[in-house]
Amino acid sequence: MASADLESLAQALKQGRVAVLTGAGCSTESGIPDYRGSQGLWKRHPTELGTVYGMETWPEEFYAFYAARVRALKEARPNKAHRVLARFQKEGLLEALITQNVDGLHQAAGATDVIEVHGSMAHTRCQRCGRKDSPDRLLEPVTGRDDRPACRHCGGPMRPDIVLYGEQLPPEAMSRAWQAARSCRLFLVVGTSLQVAPVSHLPGEALLAGASLAIINLDPTPYDGRATWVIREKAGEALGRLAELMGLELEEEEAPPTANASH
Ligand code: APR
Repeated sequence: MASADLESLAQALKQGRVAVLTGAGCSTESGIPDYRGSQGLWKRHPTELGTVYGMETWPEEFYAFYAARVRALKEARPNKAHRVLARFQKEGLLEALITQNVDGLHQAAGATDVIEVHGSMAHTRCQRCGRKDSPDRLLEPVTGRDDRPACRHCGGPMRPDIVLYGEQLPPEAMSRAWQAARSCRLFLVVGTSLQVAPVSHLPGEALLAGASLAIINLDPTPYDGRATWVIREKAGEALGRLAELMGLELEEEEAPPTANASH
């Protein structure tokens, strides 16, 4: 990517009213696998594990899959991409920070009011009554359909508080995302293949409303041809260079947890 392009993108970002849409590629540098990249989750696991049918039909595999993700998230720390986007927000540059990710790493980096259009692994939710509970409910052993983690209120099965394929997206989150796409000046896509509707229609909505489009993604996306900027670099590196070009200081990275922390 010619640095001149990064320079012009930095200038555009400084004008503000930027709507950001992130996907799993924003968290791979935190050790969280994406779905369709070379080491993606859907390259190693059946996508049925992302469906209610999978939860009902193969409970052992379903709950083991999400238990592994709960454990991985306990170790994950925000990376430079999350920290730069939180800094952009603090600088007042963002119209909205929309994420398809369920890992909470934008919030862990200090971002607020994150629009989580695919829900969050921060909670479990009862499939029957909707009550929320800890994500650790997914760590309880499951050996069949009849001993899934049970809701403490109605006994229904607890499940990750995320949007599974075919389920409705949280209406309030999605309407805020559409609104931000329509009112932004610049729509910045970071680390998503833009393969999953309805979120994948947001860049088109922004372009229709007259915004310009920037895409930071390692692989091609269906919108590359309509983007003013296409940056084939790691999100952390590209956003780190943009922050430098914009003269934005980042808070010091928090030290990783020490093995023998004194208690
Ligand atoms: N920097 C930039 N791009 C990256 C990086 C990185 N460090 N790592 C991976 N990528 C890119 C990959 O090339 C890929 O195109 O990020 C993109 C991630 O795309 P997906 O794996 O499809 O993830 P995402 O677009 O977020 O998936 C959308 O699909 O399964 C559902 O609900 C799930 O929210 C998810 C949705």
